Amino acid sequence: METVLSGIRSTGNLHLGNYFGAIRNFVKMQHEHNCYFFIADYHSLTTHPTPDDLHRNVRQVLVEYLATGIDPEVATLYIQSDVPEVAELYLLLNMNVYMGELERCTSFKEKVRKQPENINAGLLTYPVLMAADIIIHRATKVPVGKDQEQHLEMARTFANRFNRMYKVDYFPPPYAFNFSEELVKIPGLDGSTKMGKSEAEGNAIFLADDPKVIRKKVMRATTDSGPEQPGEDMSQPVENLFNLMRAVSTPDTVQHFLDAFNGATIRYGDLKKQLAEDIISFTTPLRERILEISADDAYLGKVSRMGAEKARESARKTIREVREIIGFKPF
Ligand code: TRP
Repeated sequence: METVLSGIRSTGNLHLGNYFGAIRNFVKMQHEHNCYFFIADYHSLTTHPTPDDLHRNVRQVLVEYLATGIDPEVATLYIQSDVPEVAELYLLLNMNVYMGELERCTSFKEKVRKQPENINAGLLTYPVLMAADIIIHRATKVPVGKDQEQHLEMARTFANRFNRMYKVDYFPPPYAFNFSEELVKIPGLDGSTKMGKSEAEGNAIFLADDPKVIRKKVMRATTDSGPEQPGEDMSQPVENLFNLMRAVSTPDTVQHFLDAFNGATIRYGDLKKQLAEDIISFTTPLRERILEISADDAYLGKVSRMGAEKARESARKTIREVREIIGFKPF
């Protein structure tokens, strides 16, 4: 069985794009692999050094992941800062990582541009911490998006370098986990092809959005002036609404509106009303779970302690072995 690990950003609520992208697959994957999912709260300090709402953000992400069906009894679900062994491995790895390779990293260069007032060492060594996250459990498969591929490549470099430097075959190099055709790309409501939290306001539908908010967002979604005669091409924004519909509505519903579009009799208002109701039916059970779990402090406490315990057991073993390999010895 393969060890799969994924780090989750500790800011931002989950939206439909996250759900149909990675998360739905995580829920499935947890039964097929040895899965570690963790909330990367140390990492968040590289961009938000003094966040007033750090704890609230982490809590909300934990709640939402649980609501989607990640089972803390099956997978190891934990919070990065609950596992201080990660910080120790990060320190040790840092000794064998070069300034030059970190400075060349695309995400670092981007951050230098974006936050010139706070180019901290944590930003520079972000990929080292990420490598520590992965190899502390000797994970071999990491589900990552395109934007994280370079970080993963660096994790492989650091794992291989460790093995070479200490003449061991200890860390397996981690590779991207490919969901292949199971990835469903959810478009945004603003006419762009991607749903994302950093896009325009109203572009994303969050799992925790209430029905009123969903209706409002969908009714405001970008369209065009409508087909004037049968058989016209579909513009991107309208195609987006159909793609959203394909994710949440029945095939009959999709066909009905496709026929209306092709016959040039469509009224986008009707399509949006239907789409909003189908999104609401889809997200309602998730939203209810979110509210239920969020009200249960005792459960969240239990889940986070259990996650930390399981993660630390694996992390402690690695740290013990790494210390021995490097040459730290008790007197
Ligand atoms: N850098 C990742 C992101 O921004 C989050 C992350 C941190 C991560 N540590 C990780 C992802 C380890 C995979 C494995 O999304």
